[in-house]
Amino acid sequence: MSRILITSALPYINGVKHLGNLVGSMLPADVFARFKRAQGFDVLFLCATDEHGTPAELAARAAGQSVERYCAEQHEIQKKACAEFGLSFDHFGRSSNPQNERLTQHFAAALEKNGLIEERVDRQIYSIDDQRFLPDRYVEGTCPHCAYDKARGDQCDNCGKLLDPIELKNPYSSISGSRNLEVRETKHLYLLQSKMQQAIADWVASKPEWPALTKAIAGKWIKEGLQDRSITRDLYWGVPVEIDGRPRPGFEAKVFYVWFDAPIEYIACTEEWEAAGKGRNWRSWWRLDEGAGDVRYVQFMGKDNVAFHAVSFPVTILGSKEPWKTVDTLKSLNWLTWYGGKFSTSERRGVFMDQALELLPADYWRWHLMANAPESDDASFTLEHFASVVNKDLADVLGNFVNRITRFCASKFGEQVPGEGAYGAVEAKLIADLDAKIAAYAAALEAMEFRKACAELRGVWVAGNEYLQIAAPWTAFKSDPDRAAASVRAGLNLIALFAVLSAPFIPATAAKMAAVFGIDLAKERWPASAQAALERLTPGTAFTLPEVLFKKIEDEQVAAWRVNFGAE
Ligand code: 2FM
Ligand code: ZN
Repeated sequence: MSRILITSALPYINGVKHLGNLVGSMLPADVFARFKRAQGFDVLFLCATDEHGTPAELAARAAGQSVERYCAEQHEIQKKACAEFGLSFDHFGRSSNPQNERLTQHFAAALEKNGLIEERVDRQIYSIDDQRFLPDRYVEGTCPHCAYDKARGDQCDNCGKLLDPIELKNPYSSISGSRNLEVRETKHLYLLQSKMQQAIADWVASKPEWPALTKAIAGKWIKEGLQDRSITRDLYWGVPVEIDGRPRPGFEAKVFYVWFDAPIEYIACTEEWEAAGKGRNWRSWWRLDEGAGDVRYVQFMGKDNVAFHAVSFPVTILGSKEPWKTVDTLKSLNWLTWYGGKFSTSERRGVFMDQALELLPADYWRWHLMANAPESDDASFTLEHFASVVNKDLADVLGNFVNRITRFCASKFGEQVPGEGAYGAVEAKLIADLDAKIAAYAAALEAMEFRKACAELRGVWVAGNEYLQIAAPWTAFKSDPDRAAASVRAGLNLIALFAVLSAPFIPATAAKMAAVFGIDLAKERWPASAQAALERLTPGTAFTLPEVLFKKIEDEQVAAWRVNFGAE
């Protein structure tokens, strides 16, 4: 397979995402996309803002804007923050675009034709004072499971259980706070997921390569049995319930549920990518009858999204009985916590992407987040740990290496790669060591074990430092200048090698390291061997002295940030 389609879970439109959201899907997806591009695969990496549903309507209302204007503005804000974080999406789309509207309506029609959609009369909470139904987050109250008194109608943030608004105790309208509510009957479309129980169980069983966390979550949902679920809502903002271009009678004031249309945006986003002139033949990425057979499809998401991607979205795709591509590898991650508690968008708790970039460049955050990714378990983010990891790994190990060898070379041999001397036994040992380490690093990336990959990459940087300690060109220079020249040449080549290897995690720094030698990293490929890598730079190649790559984070900075971000 030479084509790889990669999608990250689509961030809700309601504000810039926090570091927990970032490491939960967009950032690991970007690392993987960059790795696969460097290996020479044809990668299509997509993401979009998830713009429908109550999160959008409520946030727009809080901002005092129309929902259309709010979404348009927030999309641009998130797009900018993603770009500044180095997230290399081939397209960053919008689930409110016409492509998604058409496709969502198309899937609904196909599912209905196949007997998987039926109209049911539902009991919903109606607010007499607000004169409207209160779907999902429009109603809050006490969780029937854990007694948390600010549970939202769709989910309890305290115990994580999915809820139906009518289950809430002491409900009130989140628009007006009114408790003048009653239960009224209204029609909704139900997706008959129960009819797809066997098909989904068989499909999941055909994915033995799924990571353990994903399999465990998917297995639990299948074991509990697929429930039919309502796929429409009494809302203004969303995909209108039109089938075959006509408003469905009785559904004029309703839209499709956000979780029905959002994953369809993965497909629609590909259509947007083509419409934006960034590529061609979007269908060849998605339709098995139009060439998608050679595509490997990898999805990234937080663990709370697994059920929707491993069960609900596949019901839509398989239930359509059309030859659409389904996911091959579904990588899910646990939670990143803020000092052991929750990052929270609604309560603005934690560090958000835009704030992070005001403090330090993206690579500092990217490295720490991925080196401590919440993979096998939840992981805690603290500013102290962040500073210590950055100072050790990036400043001491990588930054120092680059600084030391380039400055030494400039002072003794000038700002060009020295040609004197031949590689000897010390370099042979370094090459053997690097071959093993690079293979282990690539294997960890391939397995999407990102913490391990970071540890392996750090090991490669350490090997470079150890080599310099042993080769000690500063000592050899007096007694054997040719030997010193050979080890300086090896050291400079190591910088170019580190640039390629480090690019998935710290792309901006990697580009700076490559630029020292005038190398355009976008054109570099994953190294074929350490031997070839150590001969990458032609003797005589000029270089420029790099600026300090990473500044150490001082205790005083951490102390000030702790106060600003309310860290306990
Ligand atoms: O949990 C979330 O942030 C959702 N907006 C993810 C949607 S993923 C996809 F299905 F669109
Ligand atoms: Zn609860």
